[in-house]
Amino acid sequence: MSKNARAVAAKLLDRVERDGAYANLVLASAELPARDAGLITELVYGVTRMRRALDHLIDGFVSDPPDLTTRNLLRIGAYQLHLLDTPAYAAVSETVEAAPRHQRGFVNAVLRRVADMEPAWPSDAVRLSYPDWLVERLEADLGASEAHAALGRMNQPSPVTTRPDGYVQDLASQWVAELVDPQPGEKVLDMCAGPGGKATALAGSSANVVAADHRRHRAMLVAANAAKTASSLAGVVAADGCHPPFRPHSFDRVLVDAPCSGLGVLGRRADARWRVKPNDVEELAHLQAKLVRTAFDLVRPGGVVIYSVCTMTKAETAAIDELVAREHPDAKAVPIDDTRWRSHGRGALILPQDHNTDAMFVTKYQARHHAGSGQ
Ligand SMILES: C[S@@+](CC[C@H](N)C(=O)[O-])C[C@H]1O[C@@H](n2cnc3c(N)ncnc32)[C@H](O)[C@@H]1O
Repeated sequence: MSKNARAVAAKLLDRVERDGAYANLVLASAELPARDAGLITELVYGVTRMRRALDHLIDGFVSDPPDLTTRNLLRIGAYQLHLLDTPAYAAVSETVEAAPRHQRGFVNAVLRRVADMEPAWPSDAVRLSYPDWLVERLEADLGASEAHAALGRMNQPSPVTTRPDGYVQDLASQWVAELVDPQPGEKVLDMCAGPGGKATALAGSSANVVAADHRRHRAMLVAANAAKTASSLAGVVAADGCHPPFRPHSFDRVLVDAPCSGLGVLGRRADARWRVKPNDVEELAHLQAKLVRTAFDLVRPGGVVIYSVCTMTKAETAAIDELVAREHPDAKAVPIDDTRWRSHGRGALILPQDHNTDAMFVTKYQARHHAGSGQ
């Protein structure tokens, strides 16, 4: 391990925090020395996630707030001491050496004290290193114990799973595509398809899958991913799901893999917990409601609507189902009879701690048959 790795990581962390840069993009654009790339990546992602907890460990020993780079070095030291189990001597001395000469005494003094301390956490939000609102919201929606387990699980990097066709896709997303269950010859709409993970999975079913996304570049990503995975889609369209350019009742199945707060994929996106805002949840829930409404307009009588999100707030999961129950009392909620999923209201939920995947919520409905059809 080079001592320089910590100095590189601190500079990258400065960009993530000061410039609001995305941690994965900062890492991708940096030319990392091959032998330190693993350590630098671990430090940038780990410190970005655990920033709040690490600041709590440091702040008890700091009277004047240090500049950002020094703070990031202190966080790196504290991360190695308390979360990576790096031997204290190595963690302190190598971080001190990465500091500018005039800060070395200070960094050394603080890290030695951090090394000797037994953390006392003022709250679960500080211990787990998330914004208060996010922890409170999930505690209210899932209960404290499940919420803490989910949040703790997402402090570990998520495993990478690759499909047989080479597409990298989390297992929970693959399981949603399975639940769509397209039948040969059916016309299926994936209304929010970009970048194409589920659309390409559905395309293997010999159904005619149309993929739409309201952002043109996301629709283009679907086409590119379909080409890469040799998936044959019946069409790729840039279209707003709230004002779709399709005839009413023209699809056998409609998947709404809706834009959401993404609180179930925080293990994959280290900085996302600091970006998402409480209002986002309500705004997204509003959009999700509109998208589900159009899905019911687009599906044929007796056809199937599937709603999924990679989050676990009540507003974006059970509350959307409650809305469907009110607006479509004749639609049947299809039971999700699969032990990988927990039943959640009339839908099903996977939490990150269940199978070490992203969190995912899904509901499946069969639209009412024509009035008078007797079914
Ligand atoms: C959760 S992502 C979909 C992921 C995709 N199904 C997959 O498996 O790869 C949600 C997508 O919805 C798109 N979106 C957001 N608002 C939309 C709208 N009004 N109509 C259609 N798509 C929309 C976003 O551009 C984004 O690509």
